[in-house]
Formats: sequence, C-alpha cells, structure tokens
Amino acid sequence: MKRPKIAIVGAGGNVGAAVAQWSAQKELGDLVLIDLKAGPAEGRALDLTQCGPWEGFNNTSFKATDKSEALADSDVVVMTAGVPRKPGQSREELININAGIVKAICGDVKKYAPNSILIVVSNPLDAMVFVAKQVTGFPRERVIGSAGVLDSARFRTYLALAAGVSVEDVSAIVLGAHTDKDMVPILSTATIGGVPVAKLLSAEKLNEVVENTKKGGATLTGLIGTSAWLAPGAGTSLMVESIVRNQGRLLPCSVELKGEFGVKDAFVGVPVKLTSKGAESVHEFELSESEKKAFAASVAANTELMNIARGFLG
Ligand code: LAC
Repeated sequence: MKRPKIAIVGAGGNVGAAVAQWSAQKELGDLVLIDLKAGPAEGRALDLTQCGPWEGFNNTSFKATDKSEALADSDVVVMTAGVPRKPGQSREELININAGIVKAICGDVKKYAPNSILIVVSNPLDAMVFVAKQVTGFPRERVIGSAGVLDSARFRTYLALAAGVSVEDVSAIVLGAHTDKDMVPILSTATIGGVPVAKLLSAEKLNEVVENTKKGGATLTGLIGTSAWLAPGAGTSLMVESIVRNQGRLLPCSVELKGEFGVKDAFVGVPVKLTSKGAESVHEFELSESEKKAFAASVAANTELMNIARGFLG
C-alpha cells in the first residue's frame, strides 16, 4: 500500500522545516523537501533523519532536492516558499516578492502534481491562496491556505493564559484575513470547558486577548527577528494530517468563498472540513453583528490585495 507523499516547497526555510518536523513526528508519510537552494533542504532532511534513532521515525522517509520534478505524484504539496516578515514589516508588504515566487512554483505544481492537494503557507496568505488557485486552476477543494489554524492556536493560548486554565479546554477560532489589522477572533462562540468566555473573563480582558491574538505574528517577529515557525508548522502539519488520514477535522482555513458568509470571489479563513478530498466543505454559522462587520472588512482587505496580486499573474 502506498504511503502518502508530502512535498514541502521552501523546506530550506524555517516554516518548511517545521512542517517537515511535525509531520515526521506524526509519521504522516514520505516527505520530499524541495528548495531552490539544494544545500539547506538537504541539511534539513539530514538533520531530521538523524532524529530518527531517538524519535523512532520508522515509517518516514526523507528526500531533499532543488528539482521541481520531485513534486511528481505528491498527494499533498505544502507551499512555504517566499521571504518571511522582518520586524516592523506587515505580511502585506511581502506581496511584491512572494507573488512571483508562489506563481512560479504553482506552475510546477500544476505540471508535476496535477492531482495534489495544495496547502499554501506563504504570505500574504490569503492573496497567495488566490494566486495558487489562479495558476493551478485546481478546484477550490484542493487549494487551501494555512493561517486560521495558527491564529486560532494563538487565540486559544491567550484565552487560556488570561483565564489561568489548560489550553486543552479552550475552544475558539479565528476567521477572516491573516493580517494583523483584519483577522477576526470569534468571541461569540469561544468557550472554556464548555462555558462561554464572556462568563469567565471581563470585556477588558477579552479585548486584550483579541489584540494579542491579532498582533501575535508581529510580536514574535519582533522578538525573534524573523517570523515564527514552530506554531505555523504545527498548524500546517495538523491540516496535512487531517487530509492524509481522512480525519474530517473542522479547522479554519483560507479558501475561495462561493457565497458562504454572504461572500463570493474572495479568499479568507472560514471553518472547513478537511478530508482526503481536501477542503470538502465550508461550514457557515451566524456571526455576531460586530464580527460580521470585521469579517466584511477582512474581505475588503483581501480584495485589495488580490487586485495587487492580479498584476503578477499576467
Ligand atoms: C505568522 C506568520 C508565519 O503569523 O504569518 O507567524
């Protein structure tokens, strides 16, 4: 029986390497680490291979290359290629460099792995999912952006810290655009141990949690000097897992909206059921009035970025 083949493009970088690491720990399949620079990809693969004796990666094989042909027959392609944020920089500012990189690689994905499910991690995320969708022409089920998982992890973490409880019992999601300004942490459905968060935390505390969540990536970039990779990698490998193990997890992911939440022709984070078919379905629910407004602003911001990205597609 064939093991899933998971190609990670940009695997010489931190986020790609973290996706590989978390995926290896879960033994999700055969990993192919692809990077423009063969050396760093090979180094990451070798480093991971040498974790095998202690971590017991019996079922995982690693391969590293700078050749796009290695994408052939991939079940899942994870796109992490592109430049990361620097301190003080927004994700949106990366569009001029990353749109061209993502476009070129998506051409290869279409050519060599036409049946794959493509997970996009490169920033500015939602606009890069749009670029990937346009270039590959894949159905929306097979072009999925990874950011809602990360933003939701940060939201849950800050809620748990504020309440002084285990993060395991915090259930909360972040929808909308993956930008500091416009992401939408959803308080109306957030619970801790089944109790609505508004019953456990003051409005002031909740506001602080929301603000910390929104600037979660910027905070880390300021502290580390480049953008984060462990939580982005963990969230992305969770998505890969739900796909290759056909788990059907309901996770916030960025996909093309086709009327859901009253929106068409935009790419933002919404609850998505992830199965072996990819983004099998989008799940709608009623947002609060303020969340509706924030979601609309998110969509407007995405439309603006998509218009800039269009300039790279010609
Ligand atoms: C972050 C980057 C990876 O939010 O978008 O950390």
